[in-house]
Amino acid sequence: MQQNAEIMTPFGIEIDLETGAMPKATNHIKRNASDMRGYYQDADALERLIAAADPLHYEVFEHPVPEVPGHLMYCISKLYPGTVGRECFMTKGHYHTISETAEIYLCLRGEGQMVMKTAAGRFDAKPMRRGMMVYVPPLWAHRSVNTGNEPLVSFCVYPADAGHNYGDIEVEGFPSRVFLIDGEVVIR
Ligand SMILES: [Fe+2]
Repeated sequence: MQQNAEIMTPFGIEIDLETGAMPKATNHIKRNASDMRGYYQDADALERLIAAADPLHYEVFEHPVPEVPGHLMYCISKLYPGTVGRECFMTKGHYHTISETAEIYLCLRGEGQMVMKTAAGRFDAKPMRRGMMVYVPPLWAHRSVNTGNEPLVSFCVYPADAGHNYGDIEVEGFPSRVFLIDGEVVIR
């Protein structure tokens, strides 16, 4: 048998399936409202939110593994509830740098949508709620959106060498946005 990867010692870590807390996480990424300029339709509403409190938008907890082929990266994504104008709080969204790599999101808590698009213009959205697994196939950019009133918490797994490409989404955007209008989730 060919051995390309270094032998790594197996490990186990604990994840609180209610809150998503991963006590042994060593990487903690935080995005506040002020990190989201340019992403929402109503830029003035975002500026008002930033001026008022600049709330935490989402955070990602990771306990990283080597970013090389063969390994699986995993993380907890925690997206807080709220709206910018009527548009629901969302993550920036990204393609993978190695775009032919998939990702699995298992929703642990909350309510939302996984919105996805391809560079060729296809769009899709899948509901997320506790127990829903969304499979993001290769070549699909993906963004989570919180449509509920509690944190949207997901456990994510993807090839460790996939990488994140935020730049293309910054330029292209997604063809549809998710709004809360009179209590109803509207994707348009
Ligand atoms: Fe991803």
